[in-house]
Formats: sequence, C-alpha cells, structure tokens
Amino acid sequence: MLLLQHALLVDGSGAPASRGELLIADGRIAAIGPRLAVDPAVPRRDCTGLVLAPGFIDAHSHDDAALLTAPDMLPKLSQGATSVVTGNCGISLAPLLTPDPPPPMNLLAREQFRHASFAAWRDAVDAARPAVNAIGLVGHTALRLRCMDDLTRPASPAERDAMCALLDQALSEGAAGLSSGTFYAPAAAADRAELLALARVAARHGGVYAVHLRNEMEQVLDAITEAADCAFEAGLPLVISHHKCAGRAQWGRSLQTLALIERLSERQALGLDVYPYLAGSTVLREDLADGLTPIRLTWSEAHPELAGQWLADIAQGWGCSEPEAVTRLQPGGACYFQMCDADVDRILTHPLAMIGSDGLPHDRFPHPRLWGAFPRVWAHYGRERGLLTLEQAVHKMTGLTAQRFGLPDRGLLRAGFAADLVLFNAERLRDRADYGTPCLPAEGLQAVWVNGALALDGGEPLGRAGRVLGKRR
Ligand code: ZN
Ligand code: CU
Repeated sequence: MLLLQHALLVDGSGAPASRGELLIADGRIAAIGPRLAVDPAVPRRDCTGLVLAPGFIDAHSHDDAALLTAPDMLPKLSQGATSVVTGNCGISLAPLLTPDPPPPMNLLAREQFRHASFAAWRDAVDAARPAVNAIGLVGHTALRLRCMDDLTRPASPAERDAMCALLDQALSEGAAGLSSGTFYAPAAAADRAELLALARVAARHGGVYAVHLRNEMEQVLDAITEAADCAFEAGLPLVISHHKCAGRAQWGRSLQTLALIERLSERQALGLDVYPYLAGSTVLREDLADGLTPIRLTWSEAHPELAGQWLADIAQGWGCSEPEAVTRLQPGGACYFQMCDADVDRILTHPLAMIGSDGLPHDRFPHPRLWGAFPRVWAHYGRERGLLTLEQAVHKMTGLTAQRFGLPDRGLLRAGFAADLVLFNAERLRDRADYGTPCLPAEGLQAVWVNGALALDGGEPLGRAGRVLGKRR
C-alpha cells in the first residue's frame, strides 16, 4: 500500500483539478479524495507541487516488437506512458510468419515475425514482462501477407474467409480490434468487400477499427468517407489514425476534414489520434520525394551511416535526384516535413482528438515523437501556447483514449481502477527530443506507476509490471 499526498489530482475526465490524496493497494486505486483516513503505518509519499494523473495511454504505437526486444520500454515509460496500443496502420507482428517482412511491415521489426497467433504474441509479451501495458490490434496487412500470395488484387472469397477466421481467433484471444493501412502497397488493392468482412468480425467482438487512411493528401475527404462508411456499415467505432493534411497543397484543409468528421460523428462512434509535430515519419517512398517536402532519413539498410542526414544533401552528394536517392537507400525510413502549424493546432485541440505517438522504436535516428510526444502536448500546446488546459491535455492522453478503446478500468483516477499513474511537475514537464537529437528522455517527470508498481522514479527505471490487456476467452 502507498498513500500519495498533497497532489494536484487531474483525473483524466477533463474535470477541474483538485488537491487531494490517492491510495494504491493491490495494483488498484483503493481510494481517492481530499483527505483519506488511512492507517498511519501505511507508507506515504509527499507530492506537494506535483500533478498526479492517470498514466498516459499511447493511442497509436508500433511497439509490437519493442515490447519483446526492449521490454524496459524507456522511450514510452520516460514520457509517462503506461499503456500502448500496438498493431496500428495494418501492421501487426501477429499473426504473420515471415523471415523477410516487406515494407511497411519492416518498420515494426526485421526479425520478429514468428507469432502464428495473437495468443502466441501475447504470451511472449507477458513472458518478457514489459514495463508498460499493451492493447493489441490485428493488422489487415499482416492478415493479407499471411493469407494471400498475390497482393495486387482484392482477396478472393476463400482468402477473405481465411483472414476473417484468423481475425476472429485473435479477437477471442484478447485483441482489441482491427487496423488497416490501404495507403501502403500490400493493402492498397483491398476492396470494400474485403475490409467490410473483416470489420464485421471485429464488430462482433466489440472491437474497434483503426484506419491509416488510403490518402492523407488530395483525396483525404474521400478516404475519410470510405473508412467511416465501412465502420458504420459494420457497426463498430472508428479511429482515424494520425490525422493530418499532408503536403503543401493540402495545408489548411483540416477545416474541411474536421467538419466532415464532426458530421460523421453524429451518425457513428468515431475518433482520431494525432501526434504533436509538423513532420510525419514512415518508410521511404519515392512518391513522397516531391521536391517540396524536406525529408530527413531515419534509417537505411543500404546506407545505415546516413541516418539523420537530409535527403536533399544525400542526393546532391550523389549527383542524383531525390527519388533516385530514395531508391538507392531502400529499404529505409524518413521524417517528412509535410504539415503546417494551423492544421496540427486545429486537429490536436479538437475534442475528438486523442494523442498517439506513432513512434518508430527500431529506427536508427527516429522521429522525436518516439521519446517526446506526450510531454510535448502539455509543454508546447498547453503551457507555452495556451491552446489546451492541463485538464484537456491530460484527458486527450488518458480518459478519452481509454473510452475509445473500451478499456473499462484505465484512463481515470477512480476508486477500483488500475493504478497506472504519472506524477509530474506541470511547470517543468517538457520534451527534450528533437529532430537533431531524437533520443533524449523528457524532463519534469517525477514518477510512474504501472499496475500499482513503481516503474520509474526520478528518471530511474524500476520494476516492470506491464502486460497485455484484454479478455482471454
Ligand atoms: Zn500509419
Ligand atoms: Cu502508425
């Protein structure tokens, strides 16, 4: 048992903060209130001057393999995240078996595709005892690669059935839903019948559907409509992943996308996640080297030594065009400086928006969102620019996310809820990772508890008490 005293409680619901106490017992929040009557023998911690909030939930991660290979999960734990949603963008480790994952699967890991079922991955993660909890989605692209040998066409009825059976099994084994990424080549040929069949399976299990839209540029409105219609017809909640208006020609269009999303939200359950940066990051693609978007290399198998360099400089050094340089660097990844402030401000502060890092943990020179996303939401958009109150910022990183993913006992400071907690100094919390030095932990964080166990204290990682959440049936 542990009594946390004199904290400013920001409970994750968006309600005004209040001063009070919180008692942790048996991994749960045993009691919370202005003053608790607790046996004097119970150890206590003075939290004067600090904010106590629910642990942050990363709505959008690619940590499927990191949970196994780097279970201390420092990039996430050090920014106050206590749970991560894995398997986004159609990209999940399970249930794919391959020694040689094609892009974009290779942004997840190069060698970890050896889990034939969600249960096998779940058991492996639990055995690794990661520092944070995981909520697993099943990726449509992983299912395609497992069940189809020709990815340039829609699935046949038999292949569709095979994918649905695997998804059905994964959901019975505790997966939280389906994700897709028709933006990427291996899934681009998927048609409505294929996606709808899978979404219906997820709906039957009470799952969610998280979508990396087919297009985040000129056809973004059509892509939103496509995803929303599919989720509506299947009858399950939609999450629009890392919402953005990408590419100079699209800047300002968040006015249109958010208006459409608001209209759709009157018809169906729907939300979106967003990260607090102007650059996106994904695998290297020739078509994204448009000559207008500054591009910075995050990894390259052909030229690992160039990670961190600007593509324009690399192309100049080689005396070739940027798309040609991309071809020579493949496989690899990059940061694409493709958004504008006005759009990110508007999307991030929208009431339907929750925070997802979209961090890429295996990149040699990663996008800074991997280490900085959560502190940056409060430091930059809240404290410095006044676009969010502390309560709103915390809500977007906790209560809203838990609600969206159907986590019944996380994301709020409530008696009976799991004791996933973060303690920080609201004046000092800030991200230090930037594009030039992307792997610096945040500062201003005091302590993190996961399932009631102290996981991080004064920057020092301690016990690892995370596990895969979700029912086992
Ligand atoms: Zn994505
Ligand atoms: Cu992603």
